[in-house]
Amino acid sequence: MKIKKPKYILAIETSCDDTSVAIYNNNHHDVITISSSKEQSEFGGVVPELASRFHEKNLYTATKKLLDKNSISFDDIYKIAYTSEPGLKVCINMGKVFAKTLSFLYEKELKEINHIYSHLFSFSLNNIIVYPFIGLVASGGHTSIYLVRDKNNIELLNETLDDAIGEVYDKIARVLKFEYPGGPIIDSLYNESKTSINFLNRKINPANQFSFSGIKSAVLNYIIKNKEFDKIEVISSFQKLIISIVIDKIIYYSDLYNIRNIVIGGGVAANKLLRKELIKQNFHLSLPNLDICGDNALMIGLMAKILED
Ligand code: KG4
Ligand code: ZN
Repeated sequence: MKIKKPKYILAIETSCDDTSVAIYNNNHHDVITISSSKEQSEFGGVVPELASRFHEKNLYTATKKLLDKNSISFDDIYKIAYTSEPGLKVCINMGKVFAKTLSFLYEKELKEINHIYSHLFSFSLNNIIVYPFIGLVASGGHTSIYLVRDKNNIELLNETLDDAIGEVYDKIARVLKFEYPGGPIIDSLYNESKTSINFLNRKINPANQFSFSGIKSAVLNYIIKNKEFDKIEVISSFQKLIISIVIDKIIYYSDLYNIRNIVIGGGVAANKLLRKELIKQNFHLSLPNLDICGDNALMIGLMAKILED
């Protein structure tokens, strides 16, 4: 008797500068992500037109490679999920057209997936989902806190009024002539004993919306005003401050709603200090694996599956 192979979701993520495709089912998953950060590096940030051309160049080859590698054909796929919002329009459109074409050609169900909610639920690849939970999404484009009562009941509690946290990391790194993206570089150079610079001389009310542009300006002004300074002292002081603001907000909402289940997602969720400080708290903490924090199509496939159950 021939054993029937379980069918897969094919997921496509092109919301920013990484082209990513994944296959997902509960027993097996795989992902290929091609990063354009090298191409973007000389501009110190993401150029949408460049990123969209990058997706155009890579979508077909990445998908072919992924299917071949896993010995999967379109007969083994029952659904095509793609990031439909939010993100860079020209980039999203590239993935959307690709997904729609495949769905039309092979007569597969098409599913639009929200990129931020996928970051929010990415922890569930290696953790059980326990509702309700409070989730932080911290990336290059977003900094928000959600109260999640159920997969269809997601309430936004706090959102940045200006820059996203990853964006601030990247801007400071750029001025200090680190490569793009600067977040992981700053994190790896962090030194707890070199955090003496005070970039904020007022207490932040944790009930307020996130706002990082003041801190960004304070750090940039410090760099401009001081001809000679210790780079490690600057980035460590900055990281200590910005992570403490995030932690204070999570504690505030955890206490306000009396919810101890805390999750994080997004590129900045890989941050070592953020994780260390969260572990110190009395939370039931669900951390995503490091390889699912940044933009990737696996979280899109996972989210498509969660929405089915
Ligand atoms: O989720 P992501 O890949 O893309 C967006 O949706 O924006 O996040 C990328 C962002 C970049 O700003 C990058 O510098 C930041 O996440 N990032 C980090 C770390 N790893 C990535 N920021 C701080 N510490 C890290 N370890
Ligand atoms: Zn993202």
